[in-house]
Amino acid sequence: MTDTSAQLDTLLAENRRFPPTPEFSAAANAQPGIYADGEHSQAFWADQARKLDWIQPWSSVLEWQEPHAKWFVGGKLNAAANCLDRHVAGGKGGRTALIWEGEPGDQRILTYRQLADEVGKAANALRGLGVSKGDRVAIYMPLIPEAAVAMLACARIGAVHSVVFGGFSAESLRDRINDAQAVALITADGGYRRGGVVPLKQFADEALADCPSIRSVLVVRRHADGESIGSAAMQQGRDHWWHEALAGQPAGADAEPMDSEDMLFILYTSGTTGKPKGIVHTTGGYLTQAAATTRYVFDLKDEDVFWCTADIGWVTGHSYVVYGPLAIGATVVMYEGAPDWPERDRFWSLIAKHGVTVFYTAPTAIRAFMKWGTDHPARHDLSRLRLLGSVGEPINPEAWMWYREHIGGKRCPIVDTWWQTETGGIMITPLPGITATKPGSCTIPFPGITPELVDNEGNVMQKGGGFLTLTQPWPGMLRTIYGDDERYRQTYWSRFPGRYFAGDGAKLDEDGYWWVLGRVDDVLNVAGHRIGTMEVESALVDHPAVAEAAVVGKAHELKGQALSAFVTLKDGREPSDQLKLELREHVAKKIGAIARPDDVIFSADLPKTRSGKIMRRLLKDIAEGRALGDTTTLADPKVVAALKDKYEELEG
Ligand code: PRX
Repeated sequence: MTDTSAQLDTLLAENRRFPPTPEFSAAANAQPGIYADGEHSQAFWADQARKLDWIQPWSSVLEWQEPHAKWFVGGKLNAAANCLDRHVAGGKGGRTALIWEGEPGDQRILTYRQLADEVGKAANALRGLGVSKGDRVAIYMPLIPEAAVAMLACARIGAVHSVVFGGFSAESLRDRINDAQAVALITADGGYRRGGVVPLKQFADEALADCPSIRSVLVVRRHADGESIGSAAMQQGRDHWWHEALAGQPAGADAEPMDSEDMLFILYTSGTTGKPKGIVHTTGGYLTQAAATTRYVFDLKDEDVFWCTADIGWVTGHSYVVYGPLAIGATVVMYEGAPDWPERDRFWSLIAKHGVTVFYTAPTAIRAFMKWGTDHPARHDLSRLRLLGSVGEPINPEAWMWYREHIGGKRCPIVDTWWQTETGGIMITPLPGITATKPGSCTIPFPGITPELVDNEGNVMQKGGGFLTLTQPWPGMLRTIYGDDERYRQTYWSRFPGRYFAGDGAKLDEDGYWWVLGRVDDVLNVAGHRIGTMEVESALVDHPAVAEAAVVGKAHELKGQALSAFVTLKDGREPSDQLKLELREHVAKKIGAIARPDDVIFSADLPKTRSGKIMRRLLKDIAEGRALGDTTTLADPKVVAALKDKYEELEG
């Protein structure tokens, strides 16, 4: 973090600014008055909520009893009906909702009417399997249209979806299904990744061996070139092919009237302990914020084609592939595969082919594109792009400038959007027709959002470096942690009394612009994905050879952070390269490939304070090859010296 602040200081002195062009400003969805409106937060959000279709109006906008918020109390609506039916009813049924491309190049385009019909059939199929309002349904899928259909079908019948990223392991899937006590799973026989087939159903079967709550499984057959790509052993009575279950179902399915505060979905995210947290989002407030931020931050108009590259397994995919854009009737692009398959220009070829006008991706991807070189984007016609976005981690100014020049042709504004799984929607962001941007800053709060910077004691700071907190509830905020409200209070509301603390360190400059510096807790950000060090440590200790493990993040050119694992073996177990590999694979199997440590360093001891706490800061210094900081509180300084030698040996 020291390095980052130094970099930011220099940058601030330089103070590059990029105001929007008058043409962009004149046509933008958000006009300057929006900030004044946002000062009356409840009235602002109520205006936004009124843009949705409500089955029954709310009686009060907000009931707030810290840390529990209720938005649009008493109102009833259905999220799927808002994303589909109202557009069809409003004469937009023929409009393109989804432009999908599979990794092998297969394509499907669905209009709003077609998507609504698919969702209706899937909703009926789910009801036929006995799934009803309030039931939890796990979704473990590749990025294919059926993934969005499955989410919306759940929403239609009032079932709560819990999407588990298709890159997660069988064990991660199992834990999430069991925590939510899901009654059904929707998966696919396989999906494509870098030319290979990921056998999702096989992983699901491994998970389901230990998931007694699951009664039914729907399996999508992933086709390419008319051929089914995977094979799935179907368990009679439990497993059903999606296409068979949907065949013969009517397209019309009643949309369940949901209370504004009824659960829409659970999404698991990493925390500082080993157990993932089931973040609970409800219906009215979440949809209001997702829709409003999509409208104003991405400035979508009828003629736009919006591509948010996130997988639906992450919150970004929930809010900006599915709910936000569909709620406002936009056209979205969905791509199943990797950015470098078959070539490193796949994204640019997709943008050119489908006429993408607004593109939203992550800094980790942008850094990879920079590394791959400018020839790839230069070969393609990116001239229809008019707005770019970034999310997931701080974007380094150099990457921001590259993005602006080589992808945006110096004409597209960039919206660097700060938010979290917990916030449900974008919180701090430029509005593209209003805000002058500075490379590396997510700029200012979205209207109706009031972040505050505090110091270590919780005193409010007007500028400088501190902790990013929120004092007022916002519509898309998480309502609790599924099944563990006490953990919700502890995790988010106890560090600074009266404040939601997001886990991020940040800086406020003299213009009131926010610069998010990164996590200050034991959570790492690897390639834009949150990984709790404890989760990885637990996975390591689960291996029979391991006595103790400490995992730290080290700066990584592409991923932002990479994992270094320091491991103490049980007596009688010998370090070896073979064991290193085994441990890396063990973590990948327990959590998923994104958590696989880059380095494994064996050590007879780990540096601890006299009270027995592992000193991660020292390990991080070692992993990043820095001179060691203060070691005076260390129980046994020799441990660190020995580790440092080891690490240098490894690097050398
Ligand atoms: O550390 C912040 C970082 O990502 C964290 C949230 O991760 P997750 O819940 O997985 O959601 C990611 C997508 C919303 C935050 O606590 N983060 C996200 N966006 C930014 C960011 N850091 C800096 N700048 C951003 N624009």
